[in-house]
Amino acid sequence: MRLVLAPMEGLLDAVLRDVLTRVDGYDWAVAEFIRVSDSLLPPRVFKRICPELELGGATRAGTPVRVQLLGSDPACLADNAAQLARLGPPGIDLNFGCPAPTVNRHRGGAVLLDEPELLFAIATAVRKAMPRGMPFTAKMRLGVVDASRALDCARALADGGVEELVVHARTKLDGYHPPAHWEWVGRIADVVSIPVIANGEIWSAADWQRCRAASGVPDVMIGRGAAADPFLVRRIRDSAATMSGHPEDPARRELEWQELRPLLALFWEQVQQKVQPTHAPGRIKQWLNLLRRSFPRAETLYQELRPLRRPVEIDHVLLRHRIVPDAVAQAA
Ligand SMILES: Cc1cc2nc3c(=O)[nH]c(=O)nc-3n(C[C@H](O)[C@H](O)[C@H](O)COP(=O)(O)O)c2cc1C
Repeated sequence: MRLVLAPMEGLLDAVLRDVLTRVDGYDWAVAEFIRVSDSLLPPRVFKRICPELELGGATRAGTPVRVQLLGSDPACLADNAAQLARLGPPGIDLNFGCPAPTVNRHRGGAVLLDEPELLFAIATAVRKAMPRGMPFTAKMRLGVVDASRALDCARALADGGVEELVVHARTKLDGYHPPAHWEWVGRIADVVSIPVIANGEIWSAADWQRCRAASGVPDVMIGRGAAADPFLVRRIRDSAATMSGHPEDPARRELEWQELRPLLALFWEQVQQKVQPTHAPGRIKQWLNLLRRSFPRAETLYQELRPLRRPVEIDHVLLRHRIVPDAVAQAA
């Protein structure tokens, strides 16, 4: 079983990747998409989205971070893949899942799922431009409005040289509305000979069990659930070992909250180094907004932080909740 940390532009950046991969083993992560339109991107663009390229392509805890490209022009994607490959990423991924209108208007992401021939051309060109041996993956949704071409798209990507395929089991039209149609992941896995990884709506170990039963696929990529519950990988690995869903144990949540506190402090410290002071409070509120799904104490903290706008005000609350050590708060 492999567990993969999903790319999430605007949420799961290098800072949150660093924190989440410190907990327990994700097999690899994928960085947020890099849009390729009509030019050769300079190395600094790849390094801005994926600063792990400066660290040998892995987070500080050692989790490999593959880099994702998004675009529709086979030649231009190939040129950029070659440029990126020179920076030594542990793999290159292609995005055929993004439903954002601004991205789709420029013919990128999920909108290409109506054109399996183009998917084949893109995969073929990019594979040819990459060094042999460098992992090459793609991520697709089931289709634009329905799943009628899902199998064609998956076959096109596999025939084009993609070695592993992540399937976000919803159409572009579905957006992020539950449910995810995990049974389609199994249908796709049946028609391609490459490994298929299931994605969508895995929030708990029980969801992983259900996804596996519905799809027949043990490997999953986890997005929002990973940010909402930093211990989800541990929970899934435990449940795979015992083949049972653990009953929820409040004492365990409390112990995990203690483990989470230094990670929140580290996140807050790194976010302030990365973004403008006006944006930093929004980032910690964004993460807590997800964490409060899993931890009652995150709910309390979130409600206290919600009205605050200035980093120094955030520091005071984090100090009161014993998230940041005194030294950090006093230096602020
Ligand atoms: C805020 C946000 C940003 C995302 N950015 C990307 C992205 O850059 N590349 C990509 O392939 N998918 C992106 N996705 C999709 C996720 O990787 C994932 O497929 C989706 O959230 C479903 O998985 P989940 O239910 O586990 O969250 C994004 C999703 C969200 C919510």
